[in-house]
Amino acid sequence: YGDPNQKIDYVFKVVLIGDSAVGKSQILARFARNEFSLDSKATIGVEFQTRTLLIQHKSVKAQIWDTAGQERYRAVTSAYYRGAVGAMLVYDITKRQTFDHIPRWLEELRGHADKNIVIILIGNKSDLEDQRAVPTEDAKEFAQKEGLFFLETSALEATNVEDAFLTVLTEIF
Ligand code: GTP
Ligand code: MG
Repeated sequence: YGDPNQKIDYVFKVVLIGDSAVGKSQILARFARNEFSLDSKATIGVEFQTRTLLIQHKSVKAQIWDTAGQERYRAVTSAYYRGAVGAMLVYDITKRQTFDHIPRWLEELRGHADKNIVIILIGNKSDLEDQRAVPTEDAKEFAQKEGLFFLETSALEATNVEDAFLTVLTEIF
């Protein structure tokens, strides 16, 4: 997961947003440390982690910011989005409500972030197929309409997590 002494060509800030318990912090843990925890605690305030990776022969330090989905634990919104060049908009494929709230998150994002920000819609917990409440097609259609990238991930099984980050980071690049 990267040599700490290597020179950095670019630093990209990417923000994670979405309802509480959709798996934002575990997606980040999987990407940054290749870890996963089933008894993850709700995030309070803002946390971030970094991982340096090579993209097209340049070393890119991805600085991934994670905040609380719960309103009462959230930090100052404008500071959170400041300087972000990528955003991951996460819902839980087993909880319809978390998908129904995506337009609100998108509105907040578009209200605060740079207009050129690269956005990916992520349907997390794809390992829970038997509890699926959001058809892949619905999300795909929404993403297409809004001009977002889209992937379903599982932080638990490490499915598509790397791909989701690479999609955003490569597009920023
Ligand atoms: P807030 O910090 O409150 O906004 O929540 P969050 O979006 O950061 O959720 P978190 O990452 O803490 O995960 C919530 C719960 O979902 C935890 O019990 C995780 O272990 C679980 N979880 C996260 N990702 C997955 C996944 O891909 N599959 C399954 N089955 N469970 C997951
Ligand atoms: Mg969290």
